[in-house]
Amino acid sequence: MDETTWQTRRLSFGDVADVYDRSRPDYPAAAVGWLAGDIPRRVLDLGAGTGKLTRMLVDAGHEVVAVEPSAGMRSALRAGVPGAEVLDGAAEDIPLRGGSVDVVVAAQAYHWFDRVRALPEIARVLRPGGVLGLIWNQRDDGEPWVAALWALLGEHPSERHREGAPALAPPFGPVEAATFPHRQALDLGGLLDLVRSRSYVATLADAERTGLLERITELTRTHPDLAGRRQFGLPYVTEAYRAVRLPSG
Ligand SMILES: C[S@@+](CC[C@H](N)C(=O)[O-])C[C@H]1O[C@@H](n2cnc3c(N)ncnc32)[C@H](O)[C@@H]1O
Repeated sequence: MDETTWQTRRLSFGDVADVYDRSRPDYPAAAVGWLAGDIPRRVLDLGAGTGKLTRMLVDAGHEVVAVEPSAGMRSALRAGVPGAEVLDGAAEDIPLRGGSVDVVVAAQAYHWFDRVRALPEIARVLRPGGVLGLIWNQRDDGEPWVAALWALLGEHPSERHREGAPALAPPFGPVEAATFPHRQALDLGGLLDLVRSRSYVATLADAERTGLLERITELTRTHPDLAGRRQFGLPYVTEAYRAVRLPSG
C-alpha cells in the first residue's frame, strides 16, 4: 500500500465512528486483566477510538486517560465513556508528563503508529516498571462461512496484522504473549456495519461499497452455515502482548 492510501485509511476512522462503535467487537475481560492488571492503576489508552477498550478499563476500576487523534472518534468516546479523560494527541506526541502512567495500552491501533517516534514517547510517559500492552482481535477463519466472508472482503494488509510479537528493544523488557478466544454476536445489520467500519471499505467509492455489501448479504442468505439464521457468532482469536518498561533508558 502506498503512503497516501495508508494515510487516507488511517484517517478514515472518524468518518465511521458511529458504525465503528456499533459493530466492532470488544475484548475478552481476561485479556484486559492480563494487560492492565487487577489493581486499579493509571492507564493510558492510545488510539482509543470510540472507547471499546477504554470503557472496559474504566469499568474494571482503572483511572483512564484516552488519547485519540481523530475528532470524530473523540466525540463518540467522550459521549460513550464519560468516566475517562479524553485528550487530542497521537502516539508520536503524547500530551502527558513523563512517568505519569502505570500502563499504556493500544487496542487494534499499534500498527497505525510510527514506531520510531511512538516507542520513545511511550517509554517517556510510562513510569519505570510500568507496562506496555498491545491487543488485537484477529479474525478466526476456522469456520468455513468466516473464511468465505473475509475472502469476499479480500486480503487487505491494512486490515490484517498477523505480524506476531512486536519488536521491542530496551527500555522495554522481553515481550510476553497470550491468546484468548473471543466471539461477537451479530445480526445481519451488525455484520454489514462491521464491514462498513473497516478502513478499506470506508474509503471505497460508493458503488463499490454497495456491491460489496450486496455480496455479503447474499452470502448470509445462501451459505449453508448461515441460511435461515438471524444471529451470527463471529469468532476471533485475541492476541495480546505486554512488556515492562525497564527502570533505565
Ligand atoms: C482500528 S481503530 C481502534 C480503536 C480502539 N482502540 C478500539 O479498540 O476499538 C484505530 C485507532 O487508532 C487511531 N490512530 C491512528 N493513528 C494513530 C496514531 N499515530 N496515534 C494514536 N492513534 C492513532 C485511529 O484514529 C483509530 O481511532
